[in-house]
Amino acid sequence: MQSRDRLIVALDRSSRDEILRLADALHGVAGVFKIGLQAFIPNGPSLVRELGQRGEKIFLDLKIHDIPNTAGHAVAEIAALGAAMTTVHAAGGEAMLRSSAHDDLLVLAVTVLTSLDAPVESVVSLARLAQQCGLRGVVASPLEIVAIRKACGGKLVIVTPGVRPEGSAAGDQRRTTTPAAAIAAGADYIVVGRPITDAPAPRDAALRIIERLDASLHKEPASSV
Ligand code: C5P
Repeated sequence: MQSRDRLIVALDRSSRDEILRLADALHGVAGVFKIGLQAFIPNGPSLVRELGQRGEKIFLDLKIHDIPNTAGHAVAEIAALGAAMTTVHAAGGEAMLRSSAHDDLLVLAVTVLTSLDAPVESVVSLARLAQQCGLRGVVASPLEIVAIRKACGGKLVIVTPGVRPEGSAAGDQRRTTTPAAAIAAGADYIVVGRPITDAPAPRDAALRIIERLDASLHKEPASSV
């Protein structure tokens, strides 16, 4: 994977026009666009289809947590929309995780929300549970990457939010790391939102992150998917 493929940009906006403007500005420099609840609720599935028709790879981050039958059908609908990635809560339990596993998209287990304080061991055991249930990836905070990689091996995809480029404001993210440090620790993808989307020149901000990643990857080979 190239550095730009590893960069997921969170398009956390309500306005469709603003989302599409950001997607235009970031075309070719963000490997994946993350559409979360703020963007999805007002704009719906047509936004996902429209971005897909432009050739963008979409991570539809809906953090599903429901009974197994409902969760499984919801994931199947997300796959039918053409999204490449989505999220379910590992706390939904074994049956829900098994019914959420899907061949056509990367279903990531959210272990414990970073807004809750949880010991790394419980995060790791939820990541293992998700893996045993057939999920191919997890969302993990910077602090958890190394422990999950050690416990779950090289194949599990690790996606890490809470990433801040050098010199940018942490905002409400409490435990942050730089993009290069997250990849060096074993993350496959990093999620960056406001440091790019709130920047005066979002494309330049994304390019700076990619350049830094390239420079660090030349020094230290990262794990591949
Ligand atoms: O703007 P910022 O870079 O903080 O955006 C981070 C994105 O990652 C947001 O869309 C947020 O919902 C998401 N996220 C997170 N922490 C998690 C899971 C997801 O910040 N544990």
